[in-house]
Amino acid sequence: MAIVEEVKQVCETALAEIAEATDTAALDAVRVAVVGKSGTLTAYLRSMGQVAPEERAEVGKTVNAVREEIEAALEARKAELSAAELAAKIEADALDITLPGRAQQVGTRHLISRITDEIAEIFLGIGYTVVSGTEVETDYYNFEALNTPADHPARGLQDTFYVVDRSGDIAAVKGESDVLLRTQTSGVQAHVMEEQKPPIYIIAPGKVYRRDVADPSHLPQFNQVEGLVVDKGITFGDLKGTLEYFVKQMFGEDRKTRLRPHFFPFTEPSAEADISCGICHGEGCRFCKGTGWVEVLGCGMVDPNVFAYAGIDPEVYSGFAFGMGVERIACLKYNVPDLRMLLEGDMRFLRQF
Ligand code: DAH
Repeated sequence: MAIVEEVKQVCETALAEIAEATDTAALDAVRVAVVGKSGTLTAYLRSMGQVAPEERAEVGKTVNAVREEIEAALEARKAELSAAELAAKIEADALDITLPGRAQQVGTRHLISRITDEIAEIFLGIGYTVVSGTEVETDYYNFEALNTPADHPARGLQDTFYVVDRSGDIAAVKGESDVLLRTQTSGVQAHVMEEQKPPIYIIAPGKVYRRDVADPSHLPQFNQVEGLVVDKGITFGDLKGTLEYFVKQMFGEDRKTRLRPHFFPFTEPSAEADISCGICHGEGCRFCKGTGWVEVLGCGMVDPNVFAYAGIDPEVYSGFAFGMGVERIACLKYNVPDLRMLLEGDMRFLRQF
């Protein structure tokens, strides 16, 4: 076959291969095989010396024309394949915006914080101030200044966590008063009466600790709100009226309140306040153990001994105090049968409030 024919044959084969290349790598292989340094077409240029002189011009022209044609074809196909590859890559990397998203959960305040604030709002509305104490407290403020000396039987009711020093002994302030985790917010009363002159109208919310095993009605750590009023001419009637107002604000106008005689070392007389059961409305049910009433708080008139510790003259001033468990108030408000449910962190439960 004449050389020119051979070159044209190479050209046709190469063009066919270029057309068939399915990716840029295959196309590059064709380029190397045909127009690369040792490619089939390049071989003709290299061997021009052996071509008969009369054919040389035509062979040269043909090889160059073919080379240009092939290079143009390579270029065009490369553009096509690159575009297709880019499109495929974009498609593969694309976000599927039709997939349902994973919803972000927005946090809310815990029920206990909300109820604490609600209680505070009610008392702020009638002129009380909010004060805070410390969770680590001394025996003096938690018990003694509240008319509860070391041998007092009431201490047994509030089994106490003591703070120990490095040697394991109970830590003490000034070698005297043991350091403990407060078992009640009542100690704030003693601090406030030492620091402020009457008239005193305060509430003190905060955490308290007791060596109790968690059960439906006990928790080893819970929240209380303490209340204290000291002024001239304060009577038991003021206490009753204040608590009735609080109960109606907190639980609704239809709730009834009753006071039952009780004992607390720091109040005399003392009482426990009950409210009519939110489930049976007084009929008697399992929630209220058949009585129609549920206990909400402890209260009473400030004991003169407590005034004496604080240096307040009981001939001039009188006062009342009360203390309530926030978890308990929350459970009563929403008819939750078990205090522990508040602490489990189950979103299905917590989201209801
Ligand atoms: N501190 C008491 C308790 O934890 C509750 C209490 C009762 C507080 C009577 C008071 C009060 O201020 O007057 O059980």
